[in-house]
Amino acid sequence: MKRTVVLRTAALLAAFLMFTPLFFLSSPILSQSDEDCMVCHEDPELKSGDGKSLHVDSEEFRSAIHGEAGFSCVDCHSDLREIEEFPHPVKLKAVNCGECHDDAAKEYQTGIHIQASPEEDCCAVTCADCHGKHDIKSTTDISSRVYPLNLPQTCESCHLERVKTKRGGEFIKQYEISVHFKALEKAGLTVSANCSSCHGAHDIKSVVDASSRVSRKNIIRTCGQCHVGIERDYLEGAHGKDYVKGIKDVPVCTDCHSEHDITSPQDLSSPVYATKVADVCSRCHDDEVLARQYGFLTERLKTYSGSFHGTASKFGETRVANCASCHGIHDIRPSVDPKSSINPKNLPQTCGKCHPGAGENFAQGKIHVVSEKTGNKWAYSVKMFYIIMIAAIISVFLVFIAADLFHRLRHNRAKP
Ligand code: HEC
Ligand code: HEC
Ligand code: HEC
Ligand code: HEC
Ligand code: HEC
Ligand code: HEC
Ligand code: HEC
Ligand code: HEC
Ligand code: HEC
Ligand code: HEC
Ligand code: HEC
Repeated sequence: MKRTVVLRTAALLAAFLMFTPLFFLSSPILSQSDEDCMVCHEDPELKSGDGKSLHVDSEEFRSAIHGEAGFSCVDCHSDLREIEEFPHPVKLKAVNCGECHDDAAKEYQTGIHIQASPEEDCCAVTCADCHGKHDIKSTTDISSRVYPLNLPQTCESCHLERVKTKRGGEFIKQYEISVHFKALEKAGLTVSANCSSCHGAHDIKSVVDASSRVSRKNIIRTCGQCHVGIERDYLEGAHGKDYVKGIKDVPVCTDCHSEHDITSPQDLSSPVYATKVADVCSRCHDDEVLARQYGFLTERLKTYSGSFHGTASKFGETRVANCASCHGIHDIRPSVDPKSSINPKNLPQTCGKCHPGAGENFAQGKIHVVSEKTGNKWAYSVKMFYIIMIAAIISVFLVFIAADLFHRLRHNRAKP
């Protein structure tokens, strides 16, 4: 019994000692209380000289994070901290959030938004534009403006129309048809990609800045934050190995999937929908300049289009093989690599995915037959043999029929 009382008193004393200095620090005795301010600012009709509402909702402020934490008006409006007489000056200093949020403010200095100016752009971008003023919530609160579910709307409030960036508002709006937005909006998945997952929050940079999260140099890592397994596969493949070396001509995620309007490959609108994959790959693999530079074989599209698979694919058949069905999707390897799906040893297995029981003979037929004569001499000879044989047999039959007909005609005429 006694022990609890002692403990309680000690706890109370400790709490008093801990919080008293805080109390005095955050509201010096001289400073104005919130009630002093609210005498005027509670008034819903209060307007500034230029007609802007100066009403502050004290309920809202008290339930927001700073109000809840016990901060008062003058903690942010610091130039009124020691004012003794009202009315206060008409023009006040802008609130400096960085006084307390050092890290966020420092990071913000490195981003592009701090460079925005009201003259050149739509507006200067301040902390309050993304977080609010008197209604700021914890970033983990579902009603926060920067909570994943609400962030697209916060960014779009400027980027759809007011800001004129190079690719314009339409380019941003495409995000709303993406699988990422649908997962966020429809499935309520906060782990899906929102604007900040790809661009960052305070250190957002222009895409032409190499240190931007969406620059070519960093985009694999940015998508790879969530698509971890795909990042690994990509880095193990031919494209990824060259990417790491800094070669700019290999494709990155966004070359094949696009940026804001990323959809599922099962969706007809995806650039990597089964029947469209060939176009994506041939953009580079049929490019003569790239082929000369990297020494790879061209006419991949032409030879594929000429094949049974390619022809069927053109008619919209999705079950036939496209480039990725044979070469792999993200871990594409050259045929000399023993792990490559097109290494001669692995071909029966690769074709076997769709042609059950495909043996070595089946898989041997060349796929990219640039010229049949040089492609597979044996198959070519057999084919030629058959063509000649069939032509010969048909000719013999035709001669036989003609002779028979001639004979019958003569015979009939000879009769009286
Ligand atoms: C006597 C009434 C009164 C009191 C008390 C008062 N204000 Fe004001 N306040 C005004 C008026 C009027 C304006 C508009 C001035 C103008 O633009 O004409 C204003 C404007 C403001 C502005 C906008 C300034 C700007 O640059 O646009 C802020 C911020 C502000 N007050 C904060 C406070 C705070 C914080 C307190 C408490 C310490 C406080 N006010 C107390 C009347 C008052
Ligand atoms: C977390 C910081 C913070 C606190 C605390 C705070 N304000 Fe503000 N207030 C702002 C910001 C940010 C603005 C936007 C203008 C600026 O950046 O200076 C603003 C603007 C205002 C304005 C101008 C009208 C408007 O809405 O833009 C008034 C009036 C005002 N505050 C009054 C108050 C009063 C009264 C309190 C206390 C009940 C208070 N503020 C507490 C950050 C704060
Ligand atoms: C372009 C929109 C935007 C602007 C402008 C912005 N923020 Fe943020 N802020 C965010 C987003 C988004 C998050 C959530 C990030 C997360 O959850 O990782 C965040 C998180 C925060 C957090 C909590 C997490 C942390 O990083 O400590 C604080 C504090 C913060 N911001 C303060 C500020 C301050 C101060 C400024 C102005 C210097 C500012 N923000 C400007 C978007 C913005
Ligand atoms: C006087 C110091 C002070 C000022 C000025 C201040 N804040 Fe804060 N802010 C805090 C403290 C302390 C917390 C943490 C409160 C808590 O966790 O309960 C906080 C919390 C936050 C959070 C939530 C962080 C999280 O982890 O979720 C955001 C966002 C935020 N502030 C943004 C701002 C913005 C924007 C401004 C300027 C308009 C601002 N703050 C001005 C002290 C301040
Ligand atoms: C899945 C990742 C991803 C998401 C989510 C995303 N972006 Fe982007 N964004 C990109 C990439 C990649 C680029 C670079 C495009 C390029 O190379 O031109 C970009 C470019 C931009 C640009 C710059 C255009 C320019 O001209 O430089 C803006 C502005 C932008 N995004 C805003 C947004 C907004 C706002 C959202 C949320 C509504 C968003 N982004 C969501 C990946 C993303
Ligand atoms: C208050 C309006 C506003 C809000 C809110 C806003 N932005 Fe911006 N943003 C701008 C302006 C203005 C610029 C142009 C800055 C410049 O070019 O100096 C810009 C530039 C950018 C750029 C660089 C574009 C380029 O041309 O290189 C990106 C990327 C971007 N914003 C993304 C975002 C994201 C993501 C969010 C939300 C987290 C967001 N913005 C919220 C106004 C805003
Ligand atoms: C050379 C083009 C190319 C590149 C580069 C590429 N992808 Fe893909 N990706 C594809 C194709 C083709 C498919 C469709 C496979 C299928 O039909 O199952 C695909 C499928 C996907 C899928 C869906 C998986 C499934 O089967 O449903 C995701 C997620 C994905 N890619 C993410 C990424 C990410 C992240 C990166 C960058 C690290 C990336 N991709 C780079 C071509 C590419
Ligand atoms: C913040 C995490 C995150 C980031 C960053 C991210 N994604 Fe996603 N992505 C997801 C989630 C979660 C899904 C699953 C959505 C669903 O299926 O509803 C998804 C789905 C996809 C799909 C469709 C997969 C399918 O089978 O339907 C593709 C393609 C894709 N992402 C590509 C990318 C690319 C490319 C990037 C980088 C530009 C990227 N993602 C960045 C989380 C992310
Ligand atoms: C943006 C251009 C680009 C796109 C799109 C592209 N590639 Fe590549 N690919 C390259 C480059 C560059 C190399 C590197 C050649 C080298 O270093 O030998 C390469 C290498 C390869 C290799 C290894 C070839 C060899 O001889 O080593 C294969 C196989 C391959 N790509 C298949 C594909 C397939 C399949 C697709 C479509 C899913 C595709 N590529 C999309 C540019 C591209
Ligand atoms: C039915 C399976 C199949 C399809 C579909 C297919 N390929 Fe191939 N590809 C192969 C095989 C097997 C080889 C290796 C033997 C050869 O050259 O014929 C190869 C070789 C290649 C090479 C040379 C790589 C090396 O290391 O020798 C490239 C590049 C290539 N294909 C790109 C493509 C592109 C681009 C497409 C789509 C337009 C495509 N392939 C469609 C099976 C396929
Ligand atoms: C993604 C599935 C898929 C893969 C992988 C695939 N094929 Fe096919 N292929 C088909 C389909 C579907 C047909 C249509 C006829 C059928 O049903 O057999 C077809 C038809 C063919 C035909 C002509 C018709 C026939 O049955 O004789 C040949 C030859 C052929 N494939 C060879 C190959 C070879 C060789 C490989 C491996 C290098 C391969 N295929 C890999 C799906 C595939």
